[in-house]
Amino acid sequence: MRLSLKTKVAVFITLIIVAISIISTFLFTTAHSRSKEKGRVVRGTALSYALSNAAEEGLIYENLDLLKKASYIIKAPDVTVAQVYSNIWEALDSYPLDKLKEPPHPAAVAHFKNSSEPLYVKSRDGYDFYSPVFFRASEDAAPAIIGFGRIILSSADIDKEIKEIIAMNIMASAVITLFAIIAINMLIGRLVIKPVLSLHRAAAQFKDGIMPDILPQLHIDEIGELSLEFNRMSHAIKDRSDKLIESEKRIKSLFDRVEHAIFGLDKDGNIIEVNDKFKELFGSAKTFCSLMMSAKKGNECLLRFVKGKVVHAEENLMGKHGEELTALLSIYPEFDDKGNIDGFDGYLIDITEKKRMEERLIRAQKMEAVGTLAGGMAHDFNNLLTAILGYAEIILSMTKEGDPFHKPATIIHDAAKRGADFGKKILLISRKEKMEIKSIDINDIVKNSLELLQRSMPKNIEVIANLKEGIPHTKADASQLQQVIINLAVNARDAMPDGGKLLIETSSVGLENGAASNMRMDKGSFIKLSVSDTGTGIDRLTQRKIFDPFFTTKEVGKGTGLGLYIVHSIISNHGGYINLYSEPLKGTQFNIYLPVTKDTDTEEEPGDTQDIRGSGMLLVIDDEADVRELCRDMLEPLGYTVLLAESGHAGINIFRQMQDKISLVIMDMIMPKMGGAEVFQALKTIKADVKVLLCSGYSQNGFAGIDKLLKRGAIASIQKPFSRHAIASAIKKALSE
Ligand SMILES: Nc1ncnc2c1ncn2[C@@H]1O[C@H](COP(=O)(O)OP(=O)(O)OP(=O)(O)O)[C@@H](O)[C@H]1O
Ligand SMILES: [Mg+2]
Repeated sequence: MRLSLKTKVAVFITLIIVAISIISTFLFTTAHSRSKEKGRVVRGTALSYALSNAAEEGLIYENLDLLKKASYIIKAPDVTVAQVYSNIWEALDSYPLDKLKEPPHPAAVAHFKNSSEPLYVKSRDGYDFYSPVFFRASEDAAPAIIGFGRIILSSADIDKEIKEIIAMNIMASAVITLFAIIAINMLIGRLVIKPVLSLHRAAAQFKDGIMPDILPQLHIDEIGELSLEFNRMSHAIKDRSDKLIESEKRIKSLFDRVEHAIFGLDKDGNIIEVNDKFKELFGSAKTFCSLMMSAKKGNECLLRFVKGKVVHAEENLMGKHGEELTALLSIYPEFDDKGNIDGFDGYLIDITEKKRMEERLIRAQKMEAVGTLAGGMAHDFNNLLTAILGYAEIILSMTKEGDPFHKPATIIHDAAKRGADFGKKILLISRKEKMEIKSIDINDIVKNSLELLQRSMPKNIEVIANLKEGIPHTKADASQLQQVIINLAVNARDAMPDGGKLLIETSSVGLENGAASNMRMDKGSFIKLSVSDTGTGIDRLTQRKIFDPFFTTKEVGKGTGLGLYIVHSIISNHGGYINLYSEPLKGTQFNIYLPVTKDTDTEEEPGDTQDIRGSGMLLVIDDEADVRELCRDMLEPLGYTVLLAESGHAGINIFRQMQDKISLVIMDMIMPKMGGAEVFQALKTIKADVKVLLCSGYSQNGFAGIDKLLKRGAIASIQKPFSRHAIASAIKKALSE
């Protein structure tokens, strides 16, 4: 049974008061009855003595009316019995008379056998007093007992008095108890219960997470002190919990803002807590191992959890859109008090972009190396071709169809032309081929390429174009872009030996476009060119290598592995990006993004000069004898006087002597001992307004020296190998400036 504090205190107080009143009543009544009894004994003894005296004479003279003289005694209200006995306890007279037969108390009979002192016995009837009656025969004789006087005094009045006292005591105790209980209840209520209930309420609020109000200090006592201490405690707790909340907020915001994906797992690898970065990368994944890219990796992951090992590894994980992410992963097991694993904590660093950049860097370095190599090769190659092509042209101009030399010259000319094309290809790789940048409409280029493709594609391949109208212009080299389309289309054709569809699409994409932002490209608008096929597709491993130079899966002799390498170079040179999406057995899509140009190009192409003849003195400085000779053989028939110099020094000497007659210097850029730049400087020192046409196996773009000299006053540049028409036009244009 649950009793309230008030009830317990009331019961306790009642018990104490009842016990006190019982003890006090007992003590009081005992003392009271003792004192009453004492008075009664004195009175009884005196009365019995007086009765004995009054009865003496009657006993001596054997007068039987013994009580006559004691009538004043027996009339006393408390005397219930008065008797006179002979010395042998024979009842002689009695008041009232019916008590005559009543024998004396045996104790009295026994007492007076040896004693003559009066006696008092407390009996059932009251206080029983005996006093001997003496007779002295002479004055000297010893007194003899001749009888006994007996008086019984009633005890009823004393008993009644005591009962009344007890009753009064009980009543008083009850009233005191009642008042005490009421008073104590009020006191306890005010001093204890009220503050304790306030404390109780405040503690309950604490439990529910509510900060309780400040408790008033009602009294200056222990409870008051307790309230004060409680207030201090709640202040301290509030202070600490505020700090805790603040620090938790800070940790939470750090947890969410941090650039690493952080997660908490239970012991089976179920995800129980993640930060914002994790959600951004993996969405709402349920288990950690489901993030693994392959089932095998998933199983290995599960095994690691079972073993509870600390893990630091680079893993390929599946992002929320199913994309592959490369991440540095660290997982740490958490242990309970008994040392058993009860969960894991860990974090991931997304290094996908870093990896991509690394791959791009490696590829760029590879391209750079190949490019440098190819550039050097192309230079020598072009010098050779210049001579072959030039002399083939000269022979052709000197012979007619049917001449024995005409056909071989044609064959040499065509072969040299193909060689020149190949040289161009190599220069594309080395990025040293001169780009003819113009503002172009990508749709025009696709349309031009389509004509060629539709003619050359096998019948079982359907070529479809889906070109968006009104696409912004881009600045590009039209023939290079055409080569991009052709290279991609040829690859698509090779991937569809049993036929399929080749789709070429164009569109424009803004910054917000998902595809573009997935590529993590620079900000801006782009023109998108897609070439898709329904061919064999490319698996993930191969996808990583296809842009590498000389990577091919085709049979020896069928592919050089340079197609995509060139595509990549061209697009990079144009400031664009390329990506691909491929599914094995379904097909492949290459997407090319080229930056949009704001201003429309108004450049006009130089018109073709029909008449390439001219006059004047030309100085050709070239270390290649074939090229020098070719220039003379090509240009003299056109009306020019041609002087030849085999080195920079020789050229400078000739120019010094003939400076007034020489109209134009045609100068190779790369020469041993003294390069083009030095020679140009020397010529300028001799004659400030000297006209110089630069000439090189490298292109203007690829070779920074040409650009510099053009800025410093060289008229123009021409790239080897050149045709007679090309050099003649360049000379005419230079001379007219
Ligand atoms: N559309 C495609 N479908 C399937 N595989 C392709 C596709 N395009 C390229 N590839 C793969 O990429 C490889 C490299 O292509 P790339 O164009 O660089 O060289 P190639 O076609 O083998 O030779 P080349 O183009 O120099 O004649 C190809 O060998 C082929 O395996
Ligand atoms: Mg190819």
